[in-house]
Amino acid sequence: MSIIVAGPPSKMLAYSTAKLSSLECIDVTTKRFPDGEIKITIDDASKLEDKHVIIIHSTNPPVNDNLIQLLLILGKVREHTSKITIVIPYLSYARQDREFLKGESVSVNHISNILDAFLPRRIITIDIHSQLALSYLRRCVNLTAVPLLAEWFKGKDAIVVSPDIGGRERAELFASFLKSKVIVLPKYRDRVTGEVKIDEDSSILNEVEGREVIIVDDMISTGASIIKASSVIKNRCKEIYTTCTHALLLNNAYEKIIDAGVRDIIATNTIENIASKVDVSPLISNAIKE
Ligand code: R5P
Repeated sequence: MSIIVAGPPSKMLAYSTAKLSSLECIDVTTKRFPDGEIKITIDDASKLEDKHVIIIHSTNPPVNDNLIQLLLILGKVREHTSKITIVIPYLSYARQDREFLKGESVSVNHISNILDAFLPRRIITIDIHSQLALSYLRRCVNLTAVPLLAEWFKGKDAIVVSPDIGGRERAELFASFLKSKVIVLPKYRDRVTGEVKIDEDSSILNEVEGREVIIVDDMISTGASIIKASSVIKNRCKEIYTTCTHALLLNNAYEKIIDAGVRDIIATNTIENIASKVDVSPLISNAIKE
């Protein structure tokens, strides 16, 4: 018998998944102490006894708080059962999947080791940043929300833009549902300053002339990538939409992206906020059945 624990960052998603899966869902209460420490209480923890417990909990910003919260939940759940599935719809730290600069820690590797200490049967995530990041996670299933995002744009005659080479495959998958063409912007990020640059003279940009454009990315964090991409194409194309699985939307990114000329931002509810218009609970519900 399975039961869902609703991690506070993913409460609505956990409840809608539970409803679709006809499973009971129980809440977690969080208290913060003056020094910043967090205490979690699982309401009705006795219901977890020897059950298959599915924790649904994104580690979106504030990432460290939400990560610690997840670890404290895992610790409590482990006292009641050894059958644990961790669903982390948005897994933070996956972008640091290699030693980009000498001396850097490969964060996703260490996060994976920490999660492993709780001996989960399975970890389920959605559109993890890269295959390399995925390779560090043991017993992990990576689902994709790309078909659901494409469904939102069904019938649109648009050109699909990947803001960088790393997103090409994702953009191609998205475009395959709309039977659209894909172009990849000639973008690179300065690893030291973090500055994003695009070669504005590239002839590839002629492709967006007069067209509706959908920029596809795995995540929007500060919005810098999308704003940069929009600034380069907005005077050439008819209209810009952007879509991603994980909309972190830091530092008023939503408003900044709209101000930069983007008509709408369509994201999923792996992170619950103003942009989460596509529901991934059917995806999770299917995966936890297996
Ligand atoms: C980069 O490799 C990712 O796919 C995203 O493009 C990036 O993380 C988005 O970050 P921001 O919104 O801060 O540009």
